[in-house]
Amino acid sequence: MALMFLTETMRAYRERDPAARSNLEVLLCYPGLHAVMIHGLSSFFWRHRLFTLGRFVSHMGRFLTGIEIHPGATLGRRLIIDHGLGVVIGETAEIGDDVYIYHQVTLGGTSSEHGKRHPTVGSNVIIGAGAKVLGAIDIGEGARIGANAVVVAAVPAGTTVVGIPARPVERSDKKPRFDAYGTPCDPCIDPLLSELDLLRGELTELEKRIASLVRERSF
Ligand SMILES: CC(C)(COP(=O)(O)OP(=O)(O)OC[C@H]1O[C@@H](n2cnc3c(N)ncnc32)[C@H](O)[C@@H]1OP(=O)(O)O)[C@@H](O)C(=O)NCCC(=O)NCCS
Repeated sequence: MALMFLTETMRAYRERDPAARSNLEVLLCYPGLHAVMIHGLSSFFWRHRLFTLGRFVSHMGRFLTGIEIHPGATLGRRLIIDHGLGVVIGETAEIGDDVYIYHQVTLGGTSSEHGKRHPTVGSNVIIGAGAKVLGAIDIGEGARIGANAVVVAAVPAGTTVVGIPARPVERSDKKPRFDAYGTPCDPCIDPLLSELDLLRGELTELEKRIASLVRERSF
């Protein structure tokens, strides 16, 4: 189960981030992936009422990755936290599948009340660098939150919001749609190009292996 989760998340990084060349590179060099893996462990302890241990593991994760995910937060599948530094995800935050979050994003609370106080983020949402999403609000499926926006009210599905406080913006059809790196979108998905990207990554891996074999033989 954990392996399947890891494999599909690594695939998501490779599909959506053109800088990701191989699974090994994703596994070693992507703090967002490390943070999500560590959250798996901290949330396990949290769910078994080992609260301090859960918090401690989460704290270690923050120390190692610069990403703070409370063990009580609920994360969906294939979550990508790109670059990651400074991301904070609060205790009662809930995140759907295939969400893409950049660095310096906060999913935070606005009160010190107990109970639900952090956002619920729908599937396929993109949250730009530096955005703050505050309170127990719903971010609808496929919504896009601009870099540095401060979102304090619910965002309907499929809407783009920007600014402080965040407000919906109309998209100009003349502009290319913003998609978090290679995020597939209905009209722009090109399966041939995705396949080529994967092949290119594998080719780079093979070239590295051949080069290291040649080096070994020449000693
Ligand atoms: C908001 C965002 C998702 C764009 O989505 P989009 O639906 O493609 O919207 P558009 O690019 O057509 O922009 C719509 C309008 O919002 C404005 N806008 C876009 N992003 C904005 C932002 N972050 N803050 C303020 N205004 C913004 C545009 O200038 C445009 O205004 P105009 O119509 O007056 O020209 C994108 O601009 C963004 O902020 N992405 C985050 C990127 C990021 O964090 N990258 C980090 C890489 S390391």
